[in-house]
Amino acid sequence: MDETMTDEELLDAARVAREKAYCPYSNFHVGAAILDENDDVHIGCNVENASYPLGNCAEAAAIAAMVIAGGKRIVTIAVAGGGGGENRTRACTPCGGCRQRINEFSDTDTRIIIKDDSNEWHTYTVADLLPESFHLP
Ligand code: THU
Repeated sequence: MDETMTDEELLDAARVAREKAYCPYSNFHVGAAILDENDDVHIGCNVENASYPLGNCAEAAAIAAMVIAGGKRIVTIAVAGGGGGENRTRACTPCGGCRQRINEFSDTDTRIIIKDDSNEWHTYTVADLLPESFHLP
């Protein structure tokens, strides 16, 4: 078990993951870090492919890492994105598909946290990002 992380520490973990991104096609580097219900942290980065639709998002990789480690619920997920010539993160809210992926492992109080281009925090619930979401009956 990790010590419970602060939001800043979780975002730092996402930024470390972002440095590993494999994104030669978009040059848009993304990292994600999940704090799970056991206070364990799981990270992922985007991994692209020459066959473009086969690329994976950072959030999907972090969720897979959580599941294989035995985590069941996302308490907080931090996402850090950005690319281009400058090595600074940019505001990156999860894409539509990743909102659904996060939804699968979230509760009403799960937090999705990012920093915008001005270094301001933004905190969302899944309901903020994916209202009226799909659930199997
Ligand atoms: N990407 C993510 O990893 N997560 C998101 O939520 C948005 C998009 C990746 C996919 C692709 O490798 C690159 O960013 C540009 O779309």
